[in-house]
Amino acid sequence: MLKIVVLVSGGGTNLQAIIDGIQDGLITNTEIAGVISNNKKAYALERAAQNGIKNICISPRDYDSRAGFDEELLRTINRFQPDLIVLAGFLVVISPAMIAAYQNRIINIHPSLIPAFCGTGYYGLKVHEAALERGVKIVGATVHFVDEGTDTGPIILQKAVAVAPLDTPETLQRRVMEEAEWKILARAINLIANEKLSIKDGKVIFE
Ligand code: GRF
Repeated sequence: MLKIVVLVSGGGTNLQAIIDGIQDGLITNTEIAGVISNNKKAYALERAAQNGIKNICISPRDYDSRAGFDEELLRTINRFQPDLIVLAGFLVVISPAMIAAYQNRIINIHPSLIPAFCGTGYYGLKVHEAALERGVKIVGATVHFVDEGTDTGPIILQKAVAVAPLDTPETLQRRVMEEAEWKILARAINLIANEKLSIKDGKVIFE
């Protein structure tokens, strides 16, 4: 059984996709041990509570230093003893200590086709604003392992979504979430839970 901890910051629609995927049998051999948010107002915490999942807020505001926050976040994660950490709309930079403690056991969902529109400053709506500004015709989402960089780890799955002529950043974000993020995040977790992938020479290979 793959034990996962999901880190969230916002509405939690990606968390909901994981919850639904487990309930619908799209994700097997997996249990959500806990949900952690840096934002006490995150509706994702409500989603966890509604589904009887342990949930906790660890806010940087409650700590005198970033190091203090990072240490408490890692301590809290360790208490769940997860096999996999899932960053589902988590907007806080992961500490080197956490990366080291969970080598190739942290995945992230990013709302673009990496390497496009990713890296520092590209998150949430900003990703879609940049895509529309550039005038690209295809966008999408990427699930990848988290390494020391920003959105630079081995890519697991990607899914493309066409840009519509009248798209706004909001309509584009919603369609990328519905048609890509929620699907490939659930699929990636299921692949990991059933040991269907591994990393070789920095690339994900499917067994
Ligand atoms: C969204 O911008 C999504 O594209 C990205 O994180 C944000 C919040 O997602 N992955 P969620 O609804 O909190 O899962």
